[in-house]
Amino acid sequence: MRRALRIAGCSAGILITILLGVVAWIHLRYPRAAPPAQLAAASEADIARGRYLFEHVLACHDCHSKRDFRFYAGPVIAGTAGGGSWVEDEVVPTFSANITPFALHGWSDGEILRAMTAGVRADGGPVHPLMPWDSYANLSAGDARAVVAYLRTLPPVNSSPQRARAISPKEFLIVRVIGRVLPKPWVPPPAVPETDRVAYGQHLVKVAECSLCHGADFSGGRAVNIPGTGRSVVSANITPDPTTGIGAWNEDNFVSVFRSFAAVSKEPVPAAGKNTPMPWLRYASMNEDDLRAIYAYLRTLPPVTKAEDGSAAP
Ligand code: HEC
Ligand code: HEC
Repeated sequence: MRRALRIAGCSAGILITILLGVVAWIHLRYPRAAPPAQLAAASEADIARGRYLFEHVLACHDCHSKRDFRFYAGPVIAGTAGGGSWVEDEVVPTFSANITPFALHGWSDGEILRAMTAGVRADGGPVHPLMPWDSYANLSAGDARAVVAYLRTLPPVNSSPQRARAISPKEFLIVRVIGRVLPKPWVPPPAVPETDRVAYGQHLVKVAECSLCHGADFSGGRAVNIPGTGRSVVSANITPDPTTGIGAWNEDNFVSVFRSFAAVSKEPVPAAGKNTPMPWLRYASMNEDDLRAIYAYLRTLPPVTKAEDGSAAP
């Protein structure tokens, strides 16, 4: 019996030593990082393009700004844009970072670009794995540069979302160990031609991360939290299924549904009233060609029959 205990104790000791060794090795070897790029000065056109992508296509506000869900579709609270916010997640919820010049003044443009597209911070450490840098790695070099240029023009927000807090062993494993191995140097992909509407639509859907809420097959049925309210709304089926998806919508319907949210009421939503986490307010001013490209791509998806409550309809 004693002997068995001693062997077990010994094995546990060896196992822990090996585990600590692996963690230390990962810490030394990772994240893999290329040196930050030297970027040419941004032009006015870069800033305008970056503003468009940041404000109307990409999801940066959803995690890096505070939104006011007393109002329909949660407009960004004035004075918080890019200042950082609590990001809800089932596995590793965390604070996002302040990405205004208040926090990033010491970072070069190349360092911000690297964080956004390759998951490595200016100090060489990994960016938290909730930050979807692997999606932004699909941006063309010009578009990614444009977003960085726009970040530089955000009004500084005086906030320091807290980073240091007690984390569970599960979070340690996901954030500090696995999150360290994931970053990989960015190879900018060739720009997708806007004339290829289906391919460009697919590109937009990828960088805008529609699948985050609508699911990898876009059939919806996911309960998406409305931040800060404890309520959730089921995401819609946006595949071309004629009854449970948007198969009955034509291209003009699609554009006008998005446009209609530009005129949404500025009155608070009544306590029991309908609200949504879908960023309609921002998408309402997406370029018409971009909306049409997204529609063209969504039409090519295999239709999935799935009722709004997420069940497979008969
Ligand atoms: C799903 C949530 C989410 C989205 C969407 C998102 N971010 Fe992040 N971002 C984070 C989190 C979380 C961090 C890391 C905070 C930390 O490491 O403590 C982060 C970190 C960063 C950093 C590194 C700053 C630092 O101090 O570590 C930059 C730069 C950044 N994000 C830019 C962007 C831009 C630009 C966009 C839109 C193109 C964007 N993010 C979209 C969640 C998100
Ligand atoms: C933050 C989560 C979230 C993101 C990101 C998101 N959606 Fe949604 N979307 C929802 C939810 C929830 C609904 C259902 C409630 C509603 O209609 O507002 C919805 C509804 C829709 C509808 C209406 C469908 C119908 O039958 O009425 C369309 C179309 C749509 N989304 C397209 C998109 C596209 C395209 C993108 C990416 C550019 C996208 N969504 C990104 C959460 C999201």
